[in-house]
Amino acid sequence: MANPKPQIKYTKLFINNEFVDAVSGKKFHTINPANEAVIAEVSEGDKADVDLAVAAAKKAFSRNSEWRKMDPSVRGKLMNKLADLIERDATYLGNIETLDCGKTFTSSLGDIAGSVSTIRYYAGWCDKIHGSTIPVDGNNFAMTKKEPVGVVGQIIPWNYPLAMAAWKLGPALATGCTIILKPAEQTPLSALYLASLVKEAGFPPGVLNVITGYGPTAGAAIAEHPDVNKVAFTGSTVVGHIIMAASANSNLKRVSLELGGKSPLVILDDADVDEAARIAYNAIFDNHGQSCCAGSRTFVQSKIYDRFVDRAKQLAEQRKVGDPFENGVDQGPQIDQDMFEKVMEMIKSGKEAKATVETGGNRLGNMGFFIEPTVFSNVTDDMRIAKEEIFGPVQSILKFDTLEEVIERANNTKYGLAAGIITKNIDKALLFAQAVEAGSVWVNSYDLITAQTPFGGYKLSGIGRELGEEGLHEYLEIKTINIKLP
Ligand code: NAI
Ligand code: MG
Repeated sequence: MANPKPQIKYTKLFINNEFVDAVSGKKFHTINPANEAVIAEVSEGDKADVDLAVAAAKKAFSRNSEWRKMDPSVRGKLMNKLADLIERDATYLGNIETLDCGKTFTSSLGDIAGSVSTIRYYAGWCDKIHGSTIPVDGNNFAMTKKEPVGVVGQIIPWNYPLAMAAWKLGPALATGCTIILKPAEQTPLSALYLASLVKEAGFPPGVLNVITGYGPTAGAAIAEHPDVNKVAFTGSTVVGHIIMAASANSNLKRVSLELGGKSPLVILDDADVDEAARIAYNAIFDNHGQSCCAGSRTFVQSKIYDRFVDRAKQLAEQRKVGDPFENGVDQGPQIDQDMFEKVMEMIKSGKEAKATVETGGNRLGNMGFFIEPTVFSNVTDDMRIAKEEIFGPVQSILKFDTLEEVIERANNTKYGLAAGIITKNIDKALLFAQAVEAGSVWVNSYDLITAQTPFGGYKLSGIGRELGEEGLHEYLEIKTINIKLP
């Protein structure tokens, strides 16, 4: 049951299976974005704490450690146990997630279910990660062996705190890596609770370490650390560049990046307008628009454009914004003051560029970071609201005439995370799916993300893939063993 006042059990750093204060003793506040009240004081980790966490992770990864010698099937059992524990405590986790991040309680429960499937999916991989034997020239016997990359840093954002932790932990644990996880400073609570479940499940000390704290301090210390073999990051493109540079300037650690997007959703004139408007509405407004793959450019073919805009406006007007713990509420607050201001500034730029505000466009109330669901029509490609990631509840509807034209325009962006098309014409859907430059393409749907299918970006949307078998490869080294035969 939704409980707006869950007791917060863990607020300290998690190193070597213990909750500990930061070396500096410093703490920071985590805030409830619905009323701006302080929820808890959380330990503020920095370089000294990252050093301790890396040392613990390195020890846990040493050649004869319990973790390295553990049978892969036992690793799988531990992961399934962890999934069981997350399920057991789903209600509690949902409550702290909604309190800390402002997403609706229902959507927190959805994220938790997704996290459980991700962990279970990867649990099944533990004893199925194998190399091959290769018919080489010469009288040799050659084989490859896949090995864990080692100590990995994982820096995650605030929009899906628990789900992003699960996407990162799943492949890292399945491959046998050890981990330093840094949740976003806005949403540290669910990762800390997850750490307690990792311990309860029976993972050896040092396999997972959680350092809460800020990006430029704790995050940077992970990205720059000489003993971290790989860093996985989800967040802004700006910080993606910083992470890559930190790798280049330190030990060339492997880098995978899942960054922003400006994903096109194309609606052809043969589509059912009501259904298309509903898909487009969810594509942009889900999670208050705070989604890396949000369908933030809604392209509608000219013949149905006006009807579509009317319907989009109606849907946005019906959207219930308010207390995320309340039944029937579709949208809570944006994550924090910074993001609130950024979204409001983008809305202002849309108004100034003379896009039509069909509905919304304002702050809602005067406490918490609530923004009215906003629909802009008559948006053109040159406007900032058509080019830049807004990361808020703002739909930009653009008009097009032909499929060829919209393919060109859909691809005319520095991003390439996702794309969608709604049509009854399979040939057109396939043509679009082939031509669009995006890591995921959804047909007659949107946000069809599953643990089994890879997810990631083209162009500035990132490097590497998460989820699916491909997600494992980011955490593996390949060793070739070549044996001379008698
Ligand atoms: P951010 O990229 O600053 O934060 C994401 C994570 O990176 C957090 O854990 C943060 O502490 C860490 N971080 C920040 N600076 C760092 C540094 N110098 N070194 C290492 N780690 C660092 O994102 P922010 O400021 O919260 O949001 C800004 C924009 O980023 C949003 O408006 C949105 O456009 C985009 N974003 C994209 C996300 C995605 O899912 N791809 C998620 C969150 C934000
Ligand atoms: Mg930031």
